Amino acid sequence: MKKSVTTFANGKLKGEKLTMLTAYDYSTAKLIDSTGVDALLVGDSLGNVMLGYEDTISVTMEDMIHHGAAVARGASEAMVVIDMPFMSYQTSAYDAVVNAGRLMKEGRANAVKLEGGTEVAPAIKAIVAAGIPVMAHIGLTPQSINSFGGYKVQGKDEMAAKKLIEDAMAVQEAGAFAVVLECVPEKLATFVTNKLDIPTIGIGAGAGCDGQILVYADMMGMFSDYVPKFVKQFANVGDAMKEACKSYVEEVKAATYPAKEHTYAIDDEVIEKLY
Ligand code: KIV
Repeated sequence: MKKSVTTFANGKLKGEKLTMLTAYDYSTAKLIDSTGVDALLVGDSLGNVMLGYEDTISVTMEDMIHHGAAVARGASEAMVVIDMPFMSYQTSAYDAVVNAGRLMKEGRANAVKLEGGTEVAPAIKAIVAAGIPVMAHIGLTPQSINSFGGYKVQGKDEMAAKKLIEDAMAVQEAGAFAVVLECVPEKLATFVTNKLDIPTIGIGAGAGCDGQILVYADMMGMFSDYVPKFVKQFANVGDAMKEACKSYVEEVKAATYPAKEHTYAIDDEVIEKLY
């Protein structure tokens, strides 16, 4: 059965951990969907992982729709959440609703995700009022990397911790159905989790969150530009791909691939008539 916002609400109620992974294309989405994961996030991390940008700032609505629709076609059970890219919701609540609507209609999202706390609460409220579920994202919000001055753990001193709690309460109040906590000390993330009625989804926020999310290319060992401390590599698909590609190159050069079993037959009579 297709997972939904109800899956998230029930997860929190029953104390059953929620699972999310990113996906950016049909084949990967189909593969991950078959593992029972609760939701697939078409993260704007696609800017780093798929498009080779140094940050997520340049990712466009068209990028998100293009990749989102591909993921949606591969997800029969997992809920599909699509990230709202930089400047698609910060300008006004009107822009936020229009762009969230495009991610639903053209990208076939089941929900959208956007970054920020108190300052984006009006946008969340407007999108939710339009009937679109919103996942919030606080703590380290990569679209604000230029304001943070780097990828740093958030909420470490008293003032910053209080701001994080305020942000969490604001996005819940605005109607978000869940909130991602990124790069937050474990004890603070657990405190926020216990305070909220909506589930928290942690990434670099420890085991006390209601669920976890990772960028699939990080946990598969496929993305090596940088590996954050919180990433566990559950497999090394990157090395396996390199090995497979090396073997392919060697076999083509040695003319051992394609072999007989990889080719199509034709009657010799037909060939003879060509000479
Ligand atoms: O873009 C993304 O992949 C994300 C996750 C890291 C939460 O926002």
